[in-house]
Amino acid sequence: MKSIIIANWKCNPNSLKEAKKLFSEVNKKAKAKNTDVVVCAPFVYLGLLKGKNLGAQNVCFEEKGAFTGEVSTLMLKDLGVEYVIIGHSERRKYFNENNLDINKKIKILLEAKLKPILCIGETKQEFEAHLKPEVIETQLTEALKDIKKEDVKNVIIVYEPVWAISSNGGENCSVDETMTSVVFIRKIISELYNRDTSDIVKVLYGGSVNSFNSADYIKNARVDGLLVGASSLDLEEFSLIVKSVE
Ligand code: 13P
Repeated sequence: MKSIIIANWKCNPNSLKEAKKLFSEVNKKAKAKNTDVVVCAPFVYLGLLKGKNLGAQNVCFEEKGAFTGEVSTLMLKDLGVEYVIIGHSERRKYFNENNLDINKKIKILLEAKLKPILCIGETKQEFEAHLKPEVIETQLTEALKDIKKEDVKNVIIVYEPVWAISSNGGENCSVDETMTSVVFIRKIISELYNRDTSDIVKVLYGGSVNSFNSADYIKNARVDGLLVGASSLDLEEFSLIVKSVE
């Protein structure tokens, strides 16, 4: 299966000039055989970045209408966007997104033939209370409610433990812990759909990924790719991560 490395620029960089420069350099330098490289940029830059594999970081759960401040699937499609991050823990935490909102967003994205990148993962408190399996199961079950087998194949699932995201403490999730979660995610998909579907769905890891640990995750944690935050803003570092997949 083709690997996928996704850059999540979050609320960066500060200017269009920097965004264009980083995007064009990533397209030139961050390449590896059999790997798709996707850049999820802030909305304001999307129409101005020319290239393939462009992603957004959020979307409106309705197609159009009176939703001040929102951006729709139709607008994103018109700009050539192909992927959209949904349910990132920062959106759950700071913008009160819940599994019902996330479910609506996945549905509208699939209808528009855009690929949702669904982020799931437990907080530090939940991890310490050994609640990871319950949290993951609930997030997956509610986010994928009423989504058909044929469609779920187009959803990319990312295991992103909240406690391992650098902006939230910088702790790394071990390769073994990641693998356990990935296997568990596939088990839930298999229960919700079937074994074939769980084999096809892409499951990625995200959280403090850098050029030192990326190869280990890819080789040993049974992931199909990585979602990269801070390290994706550094061209050299991001190129090394992409190359490490080979
Ligand atoms: P970091 O790679 O900065 O830890 O961020 C991970 C993340 O949240 C990607 O979506």
